[in-house]
Amino acid sequence: MDQIAITGGAQLEGEIPISGAKNSAIKLMAASLLSDEPLRLTNMPRLADTRFLGRLLHRLGTEVTESQNGAGPETVLHTPEIVSAFASYDLVRKMRASFNVLGPLIARTGHAKVSLPGGCSIGARPVDLHLKALEALGASIDLHEGYVYAQAPRGLKGAEISFPFVSVGATEHTLLACVLAEGETVISNAACEPEIEDLADCLNAMGAKVCGAGTPTIRVTGVAHLHGATHAVVPDRIEAGTYAMAAGMAGGEVTLTGVRPHHIAILLDKMEEAGVQVTRGNGSCTLKRNGARLRAVDLSTDPYPGFATDLQAQFMALMTLADGESVIRETIFENRFMHAPELSRLGADITVSGGEARVRGVGGLEGAQVMATDLRASVSLVIAGLAARGDTVVNRVYHLDRGFERLEAKLSACGARIRRLSDDEEG
Ligand code: UD1
Repeated sequence: MDQIAITGGAQLEGEIPISGAKNSAIKLMAASLLSDEPLRLTNMPRLADTRFLGRLLHRLGTEVTESQNGAGPETVLHTPEIVSAFASYDLVRKMRASFNVLGPLIARTGHAKVSLPGGCSIGARPVDLHLKALEALGASIDLHEGYVYAQAPRGLKGAEISFPFVSVGATEHTLLACVLAEGETVISNAACEPEIEDLADCLNAMGAKVCGAGTPTIRVTGVAHLHGATHAVVPDRIEAGTYAMAAGMAGGEVTLTGVRPHHIAILLDKMEEAGVQVTRGNGSCTLKRNGARLRAVDLSTDPYPGFATDLQAQFMALMTLADGESVIRETIFENRFMHAPELSRLGADITVSGGEARVRGVGGLEGAQVMATDLRASVSLVIAGLAARGDTVVNRVYHLDRGFERLEAKLSACGARIRRLSDDEEG
């Protein structure tokens, strides 16, 4: 298994181009199942997760064509016909978001058999809200031996769906299912993440009638068919926020390009509070820190526009070097502090109790061997390694490859001493 080796201490100077958002790209790819015409996605990130979903879609009948031209990386997905409405346990277990093919398969063919995703390292992550929404739209759902058997032979029907709490995945899944339903669907207490707006924009470009995406109430008037379209994937706010914190941690001056600073507004405010200089541009953002010690800042994760849970681990890494104590509350996932003991291996002083972590800043971190436990946790170890004295080796980097495109290349272009050790080089 590959490792990432970092020699800490180098300041970062330069530009980092931000890729298209992984979390959006995989839902947009699932949307391509809704039409028999091609969907062309530009600004596509090339990641383990997008490749994996491409292979699953191929089994369902999608021709997936990747290309790279002057305008950047793009993928064309074309499903003239669904050849199979089955997604096995092996496929869904490896990537939870594969479960999102269920709604489009029912909408297009009237039936589907898709594995339940099971748990994952950051918590139980049930899909009860997804299934209730599909039932409200008229699908009959049976669960047997870990599989969802769904039927809607006469098609889906619009419904009023009110979520008891905000779920990004359930909001997206409902949208994917109801755009082809007969009549109007109203989704209340919908998630407001930029990826939801991106999905709605893409569906509208395909001929859907979705209003209000990005607000808690989304109204959808069903249409009989969707057609082909071209859509640019929204910039990855989690990747952008991560590199912003890498710059804050290592020091220096980094400009992020191809980014929408308002999508990481709360993070940028918190970074300013912590003492990082932030310049917000139109499509770019510059982070600068020269010498002065960071200040401790508290935070609580929340649904958008609150502080993203996917940036919590990285912010904790940043706070390990701040002056004072920072209290970090995780409110979205119950088991999302697995990076804390790994950061402690680098010399951080962190105590976790329930959904709260107390981080008492230390004067410096020291390189060590650490273990990646999930996608966002693993990148927090990388950015901590950039600021630690000596060598840090991050194990299990396949987690990183799921969501960070050309991580080592982007950081080393700014002067970081980071490289990948493939199997035969490992110590
Ligand atoms: C998505 C993102 C993930 C991010 C998360 C929250 C993707 C591929 N992943 O995950 O990176 O961390 O949003 O911003 O886009 N829940 C239920 N029942 C359900 C659905 C969710 O109880 O049917 C719970 C979850 O366990 C969790 C909370 O609701 O505690 C929020 O989860 P949700 O917003 O659905 O996250 P995901 O869509 O899985």
